[in-house]
Amino acid sequence: MYKGIIEKYRDFLPVTAKTPVVTLNEGNTPLIFSEDLSEEIGLKVYLKYEGLNPTGSFKDRGMTMAISKAKEKGATTVMCASTGNTSASAAAYAAKCGLKCAVLIPDGNIALGKLSQAMIHNAKVIAIRGNFDDALNLVKAITEKYPIELVNSLNPFRIEGQKSGAFEVCDSLNDAPDFHAIPVGNAGNITAYWKGYKEYHTAGKSKTLPKMLGFQAAGSAPIVLGHAVEKPETLATAIRIGNPASWKPALAARDESSGLIDSVTDEEILSAYKRLANGGVFAEPASAAPVAGILKLKAQGYFKDFKGGRIVCTLTGHGLKDPNIAIKNVGQPVTLNPDIKDILKEVGL
Ligand code: F0G
Repeated sequence: MYKGIIEKYRDFLPVTAKTPVVTLNEGNTPLIFSEDLSEEIGLKVYLKYEGLNPTGSFKDRGMTMAISKAKEKGATTVMCASTGNTSASAAAYAAKCGLKCAVLIPDGNIALGKLSQAMIHNAKVIAIRGNFDDALNLVKAITEKYPIELVNSLNPFRIEGQKSGAFEVCDSLNDAPDFHAIPVGNAGNITAYWKGYKEYHTAGKSKTLPKMLGFQAAGSAPIVLGHAVEKPETLATAIRIGNPASWKPALAARDESSGLIDSVTDEEILSAYKRLANGGVFAEPASAAPVAGILKLKAQGYFKDFKGGRIVCTLTGHGLKDPNIAIKNVGQPVTLNPDIKDILKEVGL
């Protein structure tokens, strides 16, 4: 039976026989080939569909590690700041093992599905009159002073768990891809994937290393601009972050891999979001950023020397996390009387 990423990749993770493994069987997510995007880009495009993790996002990979290590240490309470997915994941894993969980979220800027998850798993949910960066500063100050485990990606165990995404990609493709495209918010995941790719390469499990392509939302693009953004904005609320915690490691991932970090507009994100859905894959808006990004790069001729190569895009969270955005952008259902003729007419038959 599959038992989650800690058992699967134990040799690559800082756990011992004494570590109590807290798992919801995260990881082992599908790598889906996209005919549509491959045809347009001219490379083979694969989608790493992280929305199929237990709480619907990639955060579960890091959270199984962070919560297991918190348990090992004897912690009783964990805390995080979150744009939504981290809080959903922390709440679920804390509930699984009986830890207390408190989450600080930016008031009014978190998708409904994520809020419902944190609430139903009995986390103490505190909405801060401020943005994610304000919430993270508060969580850092509190966890430095009080006996509470920080489970944001500043916690190195989160990065350790999340690097398993890169291992799975290499296991599926029998090597690393040429490019790995990924959304960048607090910049933990790009850091984690790059660490994973490097470790697998060093261990002889893959022959090559990918170029890392990170994408921020244009209204929240501190790394692209080279300075913090005081009032970040984007409809992709998951990556509405103005001062990423893992800024430096993200630059290292970019530079060591000869990749890039660029920005995409909300319009480009929405267009990629709908395009993915048209191909049967429902991912949340932030997850569409790397797809928007590779389409932008293709238009600039960036991939012209890599025909036939492979690109993986991490689709970080499930589309059901944010149903309001979906409904708002495709219109309302048609309401009809229960009449077969009317229905057939509406269907176009
Ligand atoms: N995509 C989704 C769906 C996310 O929830 C996040 C981050 C990212 C991408 C960016 O990943 O921060 O590692 O660069 N969400 C965090 C949260 C900030 O609180 O849920 P990153």
